[in-house]
Amino acid sequence: MSTVKQSNEKAWVEHIALRERINGSAFLRSLNDLRIKVSASCKRDRFILKHLKQHAREKGRPLQILDVGCGGGRLYLKRFGEVRGIEPDETLRQAALRHYAEVKSGLANQISYPSDTFDAVTLIDVFGHIEADLKDESIAEMFRVLRPGGIFIGFIECNAENFWYRTAKRRPDLFQKYFIDRLGHFGLERATDTDARFQRSGAKPVEVLPIDGFFPAVGYLNCLFGNEYQQEFQWLKPLLLGSKILGATMVTGEVFNCLLSPVSSLMDRISPPNHCTALMVCYRKPERR
Ligand SMILES: C[S@@+](CC[C@H](N)C(=O)[O-])C[C@H]1O[C@@H](n2cnc3c(N)ncnc32)[C@H](O)[C@@H]1O
Repeated sequence: MSTVKQSNEKAWVEHIALRERINGSAFLRSLNDLRIKVSASCKRDRFILKHLKQHAREKGRPLQILDVGCGGGRLYLKRFGEVRGIEPDETLRQAALRHYAEVKSGLANQISYPSDTFDAVTLIDVFGHIEADLKDESIAEMFRVLRPGGIFIGFIECNAENFWYRTAKRRPDLFQKYFIDRLGHFGLERATDTDARFQRSGAKPVEVLPIDGFFPAVGYLNCLFGNEYQQEFQWLKPLLLGSKILGATMVTGEVFNCLLSPVSSLMDRISPPNHCTALMVCYRKPERR
């Protein structure tokens, strides 16, 4: 197994352990629900919850949900019905099996479920991992298993044209190492290209929202720039130190992220579309005529 894959898997497995700990305690669960409502770091959770809630209300029954590239699973999806997963990594698949009704090995472009099976398909932090030449067939496959009128909800990592990405690209070697290889983001595209790709496939937009990323949540800058970039750009050092101090505990980090929320949401609204580092999308599969 490559070092990149190993370190990614380790981080995702640690994430699952945290999610399970939160889910196991009523107190932590309600604290986490509050955090999801207000923190700048939880925009995607709010978006996913909003659209699933709306769709479940429309249907008036529990939903059949497929979480593609599910990793260890997102426990809150189960609030809306029965969740199944597709996951290529065996360790993560076993972790997700503890929570989901079924988890099959597969890829976004190879889903072994019959056509028109699911009310909702989620793809959270996965599309950036799919190479460009496999993206269209992945979209077609995910929409194949959706029922007509069903919704696709995605959190899609993007190749941003914002200040941080422009800075990072001044060192192409480090950009490749820390923005692409380490995160496994081999298929990053600009936000407008991503949206166009989905709409070309026939997907009907319900809501498409950018996440700007100029004022990133605590920890984000350290994750991307807390390495050789600091030697290249000395001015990053105090910023990274501040971010490190704030992120020293989950509580201080999340308090800051909650305070950051209004300005971060404002930036999402006023920044040029391709400045965004991620796109939150909800598309509908058209009803058959
Ligand atoms: C960043 S993790 C996100 C996991 C999970 N969706 C979450 O939000 O916690 C990316 C996941 O995508 C999976 N993956 C990578 N390439 C994939 C592909 N072509 N099809 C489906 N899943 C893929 C990886 O194994 C990994 O579990």
